[in-house]
Amino acid sequence: KGKSHYKFDVEYIYKKPDCKEHVVMGINGQFPGPTIRAEVGDTLVIDLTNKLHTEGTVIHWHGIRQFGTPWADGTAAISQCAINPGETFQYKFKVDRPGTYFYHGHYGMQRAAGLYGSLIVDLPKSQREPFHYDGEFNLLLSDLWHTSSHEQEVGLSSAPMRWIGEPQNLLINGRRQFHCSLASKYGSTNLPQCNLKGGEECAPQILHVEPKKTYRIRIASTTSLASLNLAISNHKLIVVEADGNYVHPFAVDDIDIYSGETYSVLLTTDQDPKKNYWLSIGVRGRKPSTPQALTILNYKPLSASVFPTSPPPVTPLWNDTDHSKAFTKQIISKMGNPQPPKSSHRSIHFLNTQNKIGSFTKWAINNVSLTLPTTPYLGSIKFNLKNTFDKNPPPERFPMDYDIFKNPVNPNTTTGNGVYTFQLNEVVDVILQNANQLNGNGSEIHPWHLHGHDFWVLGYGEGRFRPGVDERSFNLTRAPLRNTAVIFPYGWTALRFKADNPGVWAFHCHIEPHLHMGMGVIFAEAVHKVRNIPKEALKCVLQPRCS
Ligand code: C2O
Ligand code: CU
Repeated sequence: KGKSHYKFDVEYIYKKPDCKEHVVMGINGQFPGPTIRAEVGDTLVIDLTNKLHTEGTVIHWHGIRQFGTPWADGTAAISQCAINPGETFQYKFKVDRPGTYFYHGHYGMQRAAGLYGSLIVDLPKSQREPFHYDGEFNLLLSDLWHTSSHEQEVGLSSAPMRWIGEPQNLLINGRRQFHCSLASKYGSTNLPQCNLKGGEECAPQILHVEPKKTYRIRIASTTSLASLNLAISNHKLIVVEADGNYVHPFAVDDIDIYSGETYSVLLTTDQDPKKNYWLSIGVRGRKPSTPQALTILNYKPLSASVFPTSPPPVTPLWNDTDHSKAFTKQIISKMGNPQPPKSSHRSIHFLNTQNKIGSFTKWAINNVSLTLPTTPYLGSIKFNLKNTFDKNPPPERFPMDYDIFKNPVNPNTTTGNGVYTFQLNEVVDVILQNANQLNGNGSEIHPWHLHGHDFWVLGYGEGRFRPGVDERSFNLTRAPLRNTAVIFPYGWTALRFKADNPGVWAFHCHIEPHLHMGMGVIFAEAVHKVRNIPKEALKCVLQPRCS
């Protein structure tokens, strides 16, 4: 099988993603980073050089399970130490399953700073996808702030906390300029950055199509905060893939996509070929103050500069959670996909709350807010190091009488870095329980992402999970496999996975500021079985820095 070799130089660069100049994180001078394209069974080798000068870095390969290579998962303080300025670290791992993935920074808030790119795994040439298409597009969605990620980080860590606010822009493949030349048609602004000559780096990527064909659109969301909705006027979208797993195909007018999720949709160009159409992306789940991102679906041979005759699709109302639930619940596994074991060995319930420590604001799971240790877990568990993290396991349940509709009764949280330990092949259920926010009434959505595995999504429910009752509604026959699943306001989400991948894995809310404020847990799985960790990955464990 093939080997693909990449050299990635990570550095800060000047870019104009939305026509205004910003400092973003780039790879080899590109933002977003280069797209990695591989074939099932390939070994990817990425030599990552940190050219940042003042901070460490790592890259996580989101959705790649890293069987046998947990040290290559790219999570700072979990699978490895952050790579120091000037150093090169080699990631080497196998991609064993076709699908749409992406990669991103996993240290501090470097994802918010723009450290990300696409990763696509194709079937071997001799095999066919279970659906037909004539061409494909790849859309990596992100959100952009005009404040730096460092400033955001300081705000989140300050007392009182200063919230980052809503993004100034949504980006499609790192670009957005609709308010400029494209927008003029629909009566927009006269901003100086809008005096474009054409061909600028913020010019949108147009989807050029031919009539009467089918296209696969790969969509991945690496947003820092925003939950998104994507629609293309006049066209249906048929969902066929979610997080690298085939799903039972279903048609929709628009799709919701949360940070950490990927989808493939099929689009058939069966509309009037004498017109062009809008593709729009808008914010869901939080009261938006970010304009839609737009680009054009261009029916060739019509010129791409011919404006669509109808306005862009309207994003469903941000708080129309019924719309989100209806979409999410339509996702079931494709017939014949592996199904969950009929029962689990262990059931862990995670209460998600916003809390305080003194005057600092945190997110906590069962009242513990995650703060990562200085020595990475993988090496420190493998070599049984003392005093590197809290050896007491964190709580697996929260009080039975906890009222999720009230403000937290115990508003104070503690920080912690303990781990949940699993035996090899233990079948684990996780119930993610949402609750009311710290002050006032409201409950945010959180997309939870698991490293090193896919989980089956067994179901979603309203209110507090009722043990012994709600299990009866679990979907054990067509449960979709995912690596990211959302919890809806005041609801619960039930997941099941098999601890079949020795290593140490993060499980966390994929909203970057939430993770930074402690919204995550650590799973350690049969770590004694991990073999052949390259010396490079252990450097900082075996030769600790002076302290
Ligand atoms: Cu894409 Cu730990 O995240
Ligand atoms: Cu969250």
